Amino acid sequence: MRTDSAEPVRLKDYRAPDYLIDKVDLDVKLHATATKVVSRLAVRPNPKGRPGASLVLDGDGLVAKRIALDGRELDLQRLDPATALLTPDQLTIIAPPDRPFTLEIETEIDPSANTRLMGLYRSGSAYCTQCEAEGFRRITYFLDRPDVLSVYTVRLEAELAEAPLLLSNGNKIAEGKIEGTSRHFALWSDPFPKPSYLFALVGGDLGSIHDEFTTRSGRKVALGIHVEHGKEAFAAYAMDALKRSMAWDETAFGREYDLDIFNIVAVSDFNMGAMENKGLNIFNDKYVLASPSTATDTDYAHIEAVIAHEYFHNWTGNRITCRDWFQLCLKEGLTVFRDHEFSSDMRSRPVHRIADVRALRAQQFPEDAGPLAHNVRPDAYLEINNFYTATIYEKGAEIIRLLKVLIGDEAFRKGMDLYFDRYDGTAATIEDFISCFAETAQRDLTQFSLWYNQAGTPLVEVAAAYDAAARTFTLDFSQSCKPTPGQDVKEPFVIPIALGLVAEGHGDLKLAASDSDGASVAELSRGVIELTTAQRRIVFTNVASRPVPSLLRGFSAPVRLNYAASESDLLTLISHDSDSFNRWQAAQTYASRLLLRSVELVRAGGVSIRDESFSGALRRVLEDNADPAFAAQVITLPSEADIAREIGQDVDPDAIHVAREALRKAIGRDLREILLATYARLAENAPYSPDAAAAGRRALRNAALDLFVAGDPVEGASLAARQFESADTMTNEIAALGVLAHTPGRERDAALEAFYRAHEGDALVIDKWFALQAMIPEADALNRVRRLMAHRAFSIANPNRVRALIGAFAAGNQTQFNALDGSGYDFITGIVVDLDRKNPQVAARLLSAFKSWRTLEAKRRGLAEAALRRVAGVGTLSPDVKDIAERSLA
Ligand code: PHE
Ligand code: ZN
Repeated sequence: MRTDSAEPVRLKDYRAPDYLIDKVDLDVKLHATATKVVSRLAVRPNPKGRPGASLVLDGDGLVAKRIALDGRELDLQRLDPATALLTPDQLTIIAPPDRPFTLEIETEIDPSANTRLMGLYRSGSAYCTQCEAEGFRRITYFLDRPDVLSVYTVRLEAELAEAPLLLSNGNKIAEGKIEGTSRHFALWSDPFPKPSYLFALVGGDLGSIHDEFTTRSGRKVALGIHVEHGKEAFAAYAMDALKRSMAWDETAFGREYDLDIFNIVAVSDFNMGAMENKGLNIFNDKYVLASPSTATDTDYAHIEAVIAHEYFHNWTGNRITCRDWFQLCLKEGLTVFRDHEFSSDMRSRPVHRIADVRALRAQQFPEDAGPLAHNVRPDAYLEINNFYTATIYEKGAEIIRLLKVLIGDEAFRKGMDLYFDRYDGTAATIEDFISCFAETAQRDLTQFSLWYNQAGTPLVEVAAAYDAAARTFTLDFSQSCKPTPGQDVKEPFVIPIALGLVAEGHGDLKLAASDSDGASVAELSRGVIELTTAQRRIVFTNVASRPVPSLLRGFSAPVRLNYAASESDLLTLISHDSDSFNRWQAAQTYASRLLLRSVELVRAGGVSIRDESFSGALRRVLEDNADPAFAAQVITLPSEADIAREIGQDVDPDAIHVAREALRKAIGRDLREILLATYARLAENAPYSPDAAAAGRRALRNAALDLFVAGDPVEGASLAARQFESADTMTNEIAALGVLAHTPGRERDAALEAFYRAHEGDALVIDKWFALQAMIPEADALNRVRRLMAHRAFSIANPNRVRALIGAFAAGNQTQFNALDGSGYDFITGIVVDLDRKNPQVAARLLSAFKSWRTLEAKRRGLAEAALRRVAGVGTLSPDVKDIAERSLA
C-alpha cells in the first residue's frame, strides 16, 4: 500500500528533475506470482537540476532483490544509510557520482496479486501493464515522472505455452526459443524517448488479426489487434477504424505514424477506456470488440472514437508529452478535441455536436458546479488518478474548440503545425501550447488562458429589446461565474458567441457593420461576437421587424446561457433555425421549461402541464423527413439528471421522474399516429451496416418506439415484444428489452431471462443486461442489484462489471439511488469502502456519484452527507477514496 503523506502536490512547486535517465534496459521474466524484473538505467545529472542532490527513485510496494551502482553491488541486508535508503516506496542513492553512471535494480513482483490493475497485472491468463499515471513504480524503482524521457530496450521471457505472444513498445528486433528449455524470448526496442507512463508489455496466448497501412511518405506499418481466442472476427471494425484514423491524421493534421509496427491488445480487466502506450495501445475490450448482434450503434461509435483517440495520442501525448501531471489536459483535452473532429468527419457533424454537448452537460457541468470542481489545469492534487475527469477531458476539448473559433481555422492549423515542430520530443506545458497560437494568430491569448486556470461554468445572460419606432434590436450580454472551491472571485472569460438573427420569413438577417452599434466588421461577418468583459451591448439598426435571436450557435463556448426566449420564438427556432444545433437546443429548452414548471406543480400536489404546441413542433420535425439521427435527438427529452441540473437546488428526484414520465406520455398520445408511421417507415430493410445513416434510422425508430410506449403502454409493449423477438441487431434488441424492462410483470422476467440465455458467455453483452436492470426506476431496483451481485456472471474484481451494475445504479437511476430512506447512498458507500481494498481507482470513481449531493432537497442531502461522512471516517482508506470523500464534504 502506498503511504502518501496528506500534503498536496502543487504546480508552483515544480522543479526540473535532478537526474535524467537516457536509457532503460528492462529484462522481464514473466511468472504468474514471481516475475523478475532487471532494470539497467543510464543515469546522468541533469544540468538543470541541483548539483550534488541525492537520487530519489519512486517505488510502490516493491521488493528489491539486487541493486548495483556502476557494477558495484549494494549489500541490501546491511544497507549503509550514508550510501542508500531503501523502502518498498522509495530508493534513495544518497550521493551519486557527479557524472553519468549506471544503476541496476532487480525487483520481484506478483502480477496475480495485483488487484489495483496498475503496474504489471493479469487479465485472464494474459500479462499486461498499465503505467499511467504512476504505475511504472509498481514494476521497478524509477524517476516515475513524465519529464524524464528515456529510450527503452525490453527483453521479455516467458513459457512458450503460456505466453506465445510477447509484445512491448517500438519495433521487435529479435526473438527465439531458449535452447534446452520450454521458454522463449522477444527483444523490443523503441527508438523514441518516452516517459515511463508510456511503457507497456503484454504476454499471453491471444488470437490476432493483422493488416497493413502505408503512410503517405511510403512507410509500411504492420498493424495487429490481439484479442481473446475466438473473438478475432469481433476486432474487424476496430481495425477498420484504426486505418481510417491513421489516414485522417495525415490529412487533417499532417501527422504520420513513426514506427514499423502498431499493436492493439484488448483485455477484459481494465480501469479505464484504453491506454496510448507507444506503439502498443492496451484497450478495455469493450472498446475493441463488436459484432452487429453484440454491439449497439453507440458501441460502434465509441469504438471508432476510442481507437482514434489512442492513435492520435501518438503525436499529442507521446511525441509531445506533458511536463508534469498538472498539464494532463495538454494531451487529453487536445486528443479528445482531435477525436471529436475525426468522428464529426466520419459521421454527421451537427448530430455529433449535439451528442458531445449532451455528454459535456451531463458529466462536466455537474462536476464544475459541485464540490469536485477543478481547473482544466489544476494547481494542486492529492491523488492524480482522481483527475482523469470530464473537466480535463471534455472541457479541455471544448476550450480548444473555442480557441479555434476565436482565431479562425487557418491560424489554428498553423498553430498546431508550429506546436508539433517546436515541441516534438519534449515534455511541454499549456503555456508552450498557447504560445504557438498567440504567434500564428498574432494575438494576445492571456485572457483565453483563464479557461485553463479558472474553474466553474460561466453563465451568460442575455436580454433583448426591439424598438419598432427606431428599428433597432438590442442585445445586452452579461457574464458571471459562481465561486468554486478555492476560487471566490473570477475574472471575465473571453466567450465567443456565435449568433444569428432569424427574421420573419425565417431566413437569417444579413448582419452588416453599418447596421450595428457595438460590434466589429469582423465579428459580424463571421457571426461571432466576443464577450471579454462582464457586460456588452450590441444594437442592430435598420431592423424592419422583431427578429428571433439564435444565440450560442453550435455551442460556441462551454457556458450556460440564460435568455428568456418566448415560447413562440423557441417554436420558430425548432422549425427554422439554419443552425441545427440550435434547432435541437430550442426543443430541449422548451421541454425543460415545461418540465421545470411541472416539477413545481407535482411537488405542490398538482398535476403536470400539457402543451400541445410542443407536441406540434416535434410532429413537424418528424414530418419534415429531417436527417433521422437529428430527429432522434430532437424528440429525445432531457434526462432526469439534465432536469435536476437545470433546477440546481432543492432537487426532488421523484417529482422530476413523475413530471418527465407525464410529458413523455402526453407526447406519446399527441403524436401516436406519426410515431407509429415513423416506426413503420424505418423498419430495417437492408443488411446491417454500422454507418451513421443506418444508425440514425435505428436511433429514430427506437426513439419513436420509446415515446409511443409512453402514450400506449399496452400496444407499445406488444410492438416492443415483437421487436425483441425478431431483432437481429443488438441496437434493436436492447432498445426493445429496455422498453419491456420498464413494464413490471411476467413478460419482463421472461424477456430478461431470454436475453440472458441468448447472450450468456459474452460478458460485454451481459454488462448491458446488468446495467439495464440497475436503471429500472422502481422501488425494487436496489434489491435487484443486490441479487445480481450474487449472479455468477458478476465479479467485483472486474471494473466493467462494477460499472455496469453498480455504476449504472448510482449514475443512471436517479430515483432509486436517491431513495428517500437513504438505502441507495448506504449501498454505494458500503461498496466503495469494500472495493477500495481491491481497487482504489474504481472505488473513488464510484464515490464521485455523490458529486451533486448538495443540490438535493434537505432530507436527501442530510442522508447523503451522513453516508459520505461514514466513508470519510474509515481509517484505512486509500488516498484515492479519501481525497474524493474529503473534497465532496468540504
Ligand atoms: N490516457 C488514457 C487515455 O485517455 C486514459 C488512462 C488514464 C488509461 C489512466 C489508464 C490509466 O487515452
Ligand atoms: Zn487520452
